[in-house]
Amino acid sequence: MTSATLDAGPSAATFPAARTDAPPRRARRRYAVVGTGQRARTYVDGIGEHADVADLVALVDTSPTRLRHHADRVRLSGRAEPALYAAEDLDRMLVDLAPDVVVVTSPDRTHAAHVATALGHGADVVVEKPLTIDAGGMYTIADAVRRSEGRLTVAHNYRYSPRNAALRQVVADGRLGDVVSVHFEWLLDAAHGADYFRRWHRDKQSSGGLLVHKASHHFDLVNWWVGDAPETVYARGGLKFYGRPQDAGERYAPDLAADDDLRALYLDAAHEDGYRRDQDPFAPGATIEDTLSVLVGYRDGANLTYSLTAHSPWEGYRVAINGTRGRAELEVVERCHATPGLPGRLGTALDDGEACCPTRPRGARLVVQEQWGTTEEVRLPAEHGHRTGDAALLRDLLRGHLDPTSGGPDADPLSRRAGLVDGLRAVAVGVAGNRSLATGQVVPVSALGTRL
Ligand SMILES: NC(=O)c1ccc[n+]([C@@H]2O[C@H](COP(=O)([O-])OP(=O)(O)OC[C@H]3O[C@@H](n4cnc5c(N)ncnc54)[C@H](O)[C@@H]3O)[C@@H](O)[C@H]2O)c1
Repeated sequence: MTSATLDAGPSAATFPAARTDAPPRRARRRYAVVGTGQRARTYVDGIGEHADVADLVALVDTSPTRLRHHADRVRLSGRAEPALYAAEDLDRMLVDLAPDVVVVTSPDRTHAAHVATALGHGADVVVEKPLTIDAGGMYTIADAVRRSEGRLTVAHNYRYSPRNAALRQVVADGRLGDVVSVHFEWLLDAAHGADYFRRWHRDKQSSGGLLVHKASHHFDLVNWWVGDAPETVYARGGLKFYGRPQDAGERYAPDLAADDDLRALYLDAAHEDGYRRDQDPFAPGATIEDTLSVLVGYRDGANLTYSLTAHSPWEGYRVAINGTRGRAELEVVERCHATPGLPGRLGTALDDGEACCPTRPRGARLVVQEQWGTTEEVRLPAEHGHRTGDAALLRDLLRGHLDPTSGGPDADPLSRRAGLVDGLRAVAVGVAGNRSLATGQVVPVSALGTRL
């Protein structure tokens, strides 16, 4: 494999380390949420759950219906209704209300501009993953951070999942010695995977494809587990499953009307902008891949072999980390099988737990084996999934600033709070991977033009 010769992109820039002279933060902070679709709910509700330290002052979106839906939910929960702003009035909202923090939960293609605008007004920013979708966005955000007093956090919630944190702890404790390789397979079942082919994610210009949109979670985990920066990327993949019509189309057709939230957010709003939440995942026109294999070289010499399948019969992941002193293996079954045809469920997914798949029940298992030693299973807390990670992320985001000596971001021995460099490194693998897919070459991350 040879390195690609690519346009250098914007000139490389150097960015300062995290500020240590940040002004003391107020106990109560005022939040604005930009992009009020499905993910926004986590923050809108989360701010309500931490109402002793957080106020929601504004919502911003292109859709009046989705704005109204979230505002009504806030009012019905007994809180003061936030001000509502159209997307083109983001600047005006920032001047009018001067929120302390702007949370960006709009589609991936819009993140760079929203982050730069909010930082430009001096607000702190929490941006959903992926930080951005391309090299231009990486540069825009890095430059905006350099110019701003605001602090940027990337909401990498997978770091807050206890099983992922436990693996980080094993590496940090030195039990594996120096990490030399990581082998990581992520499986989305056909219920969940299809959802990325129903709406804007299916367009690479909007989402960066699954290598950016989805795998940025996974590359962030690897970067964080091994504490290293990606250097070169080689990727192969394609649209192998959703690219061809299936004879079981109804299994993939969610009934949005059967769920109050989905109906209010999408069906009732479709007349405004034509946003269809339930497109046929097999319809022609998807420009993203559903099957991906990636080889990443790390600065300190470790290699990552990674694969993503978005049409598996079960959902979960397997990761193995090999070091000079031992090996750790984390295996997670999030859903052992998916059931089609459940009304109101986007993924038409159901998992009855142990009863339905005794050979591969839902759960997580972390095993460490040191060289010449026997295996040891690391005890994991009973809960595992997305919700636990989100709850811990929210606690850190909304309360962590209050007392850095007791659980605040600066006191976290596992460094879960992700900032600019973490966000850049997480998307750099996918952005370089997309170039590799297009050129068939190995792509140095330095070719993206932003120093990591
Ligand atoms: N960390 C996680 O686990 C997780 C889970 C889901 C989504 N996300 C991220 O959250 C973001 C939103 O995802 P979603 O599923 O809620 O999408 P969505 O399509 O449901 O919501 C996006 C909202 O943004 C609005 N919007 C579109 N263009 C806009 C603009 N220019 N300015 C302001 N608003 C605009 C849309 O009208 C819509 O209401 C994505 O970046 C996604 O990657 C993260």
